[in-house]
Amino acid sequence: VITAATPIDVPRDWVGLRDRVRDCQHCKLCATRTQTVFGVGVEDAPLLVVGEGPGADEDAQGEPFVGRAGKLLDQMLLSIGRSRSKNTYIANVVKCRPPGNRDPEADEVEACRPYLDRQIELIKPKLIVGLGRTAAQRLLHTDEPLSKLRGPLFEYGPTRTPVFITYHPAYLLRSPREKAKSWQDLKRIHQLLQQHDAG
Ligand code: URA
Repeated sequence: VITAATPIDVPRDWVGLRDRVRDCQHCKLCATRTQTVFGVGVEDAPLLVVGEGPGADEDAQGEPFVGRAGKLLDQMLLSIGRSRSKNTYIANVVKCRPPGNRDPEADEVEACRPYLDRQIELIKPKLIVGLGRTAAQRLLHTDEPLSKLRGPLFEYGPTRTPVFITYHPAYLLRSPREKAKSWQDLKRIHQLLQQHDAG
């Protein structure tokens, strides 16, 4: 188990990175996972979507967002012409399922940080969309509540990649009334990506 202060050398290519994640034992989640869930999609996509971590379905299948929340996410993306097979990459803050679907703990998020950082470096997305509080706080290095993070455009890393935060689809399944606001967010995301396509 490493701490946030432990430097770890993460491969700079997709194959090496994928292998490293598959065998990772840097936090306690490795003891309870079925398998790691690396990420899926187009490796140079303009849009990167970041979720929290694998649930039971993802842990079983090895792919992010394949359960109920994933079906909703796919519909949301499709409504703005995006999909994991065409123009989007989907990854999580942590690559291993937290037991019982609890939130990932701070040490787990930190242990996994270099992997998502490297994925972002390799993808070079034009826009990063963070889903829900865990992704928002991790991408933006903050403890602020989601209510403060959803809406404004932020920047990520030295490349100053734009970051937009919206609701997690699992939250929308529990609170369907928020879908109207989520739809506003999707339109905004679409606009931001169109600006990129045009420019
Ligand atoms: N929820 C997430 O945050 N990620 C997944 O991959 C699935 C559900």
